[in-house]
Amino acid sequence: MAEKTIIEQTLVELGDTTPEKVVARFAEVRKRFDEQFARVAAKPDDWEVFRIHWVGRKSGALTKIADNWLKSAPADLKQPVGQAFNELKSHIDAALQGWRAAIDAMQDIGDYMATAQGAYASRAAHDAALRAAATAAAIIGAAGQTEPILPLIEPVDLSLPGIERPIGTRHLIRQTFEELQRIFLSIGFSVVEGPEIETPYYNFEALNIPEHHPARDNMDTFYIAGSRSPHLLRTHTSPMQIRTMQKQPPPVRIVVPGKVYRRDNPDATHGYMFHQIEGLAVDTDITFCDFKGTVDHFAREFLGPKTKTRLRPSYFPFTEPSAEVDASCHLCGGSGCRVCKQSGWIELFGAGMVNPAVYGFVNYDPQRLSGFAFGMGVDRLAMLKYGVTEVPLLFQNDVRFLRQFP
Ligand code: PHE
Repeated sequence: MAEKTIIEQTLVELGDTTPEKVVARFAEVRKRFDEQFARVAAKPDDWEVFRIHWVGRKSGALTKIADNWLKSAPADLKQPVGQAFNELKSHIDAALQGWRAAIDAMQDIGDYMATAQGAYASRAAHDAALRAAATAAAIIGAAGQTEPILPLIEPVDLSLPGIERPIGTRHLIRQTFEELQRIFLSIGFSVVEGPEIETPYYNFEALNIPEHHPARDNMDTFYIAGSRSPHLLRTHTSPMQIRTMQKQPPPVRIVVPGKVYRRDNPDATHGYMFHQIEGLAVDTDITFCDFKGTVDHFAREFLGPKTKTRLRPSYFPFTEPSAEVDASCHLCGGSGCRVCKQSGWIELFGAGMVNPAVYGFVNYDPQRLSGFAFGMGVDRLAMLKYGVTEVPLLFQNDVRFLRQFP
């Protein structure tokens, strides 16, 4: 057993039987507190332990003194012990409160120093901040700080030139997103975004891709481990078709920009993550002509007014019929070059008329409604338009690359 500390014994056990001895005993405690306080002020990490040691409700020193010294004091000592105890308690409380204020004040000093390097809106704002910092410094001093913990505040020389903060540019992908959105906003689409972590229901089932459907193979993705119900990183932005139609009645005209994920091995044209922009238009009178017209308009806006488009039959479970949209090569104008591999055409994106089966999942009336959808690979479109040949360039953030797209 460790020896009992003085505050675990009664005053009688300590032999403090006269008022003078009581006063001396309390003075000893107070001295100990002051010494520790000075040490902790220089080492704020120990603050919490220190605080609990002294004023912790259950077994702090003050509590023990009250229990062992005050409550059990013999009748003739009750008065001096009570008085000494109250004095000690006020002393400790005041010191602790002063320290709290000092911590808050440090914040003020920090704020001042951070902004002092930059600029204040006005001379008055600067002076106010300086005054707050000075008060703070005084409080910290009063809280028992022996050595300054912060460098002295230096007056600001307002004649110095400011610090120049170079302004960056938007990344090529962001620029492309904005351009795509602009094109569709101008013909009445709105922009919505959705979650990157999806359920298989939205990513597959409700898009008419049942389990074991071969269309899932090329969309193998990352599943989230440890979630109670299965979740995955969306393989395309198409889940937002379902979420949007579930939420609102027709008509729908939306584009959905966002990140999508697939378990592809990274190479010059693939990464495990890429960007898409989904489009969906559903209304009572949308025809294949509207689809083709929208695609044409888009291609001319994005690649130039001479651009032509063609549709090749394709397959997606959630569109019927489905198509790959090709554009005439914007580099050679269709005569054949390295970029279009001498074909004169480049593949832009997948699209089609919304498969009526999809309406069944969102309670839309397939008899009354029709529409089209498309899903564009934004990285791909950016690379085509700006002649970028390697996907990794888009993610390495080498300024020599970024600066080419101011
Ligand atoms: N979601 C499809 C994909 O990622 C693209 C697509 C979207 C096709 C909308 C048709 C309609 O491959």
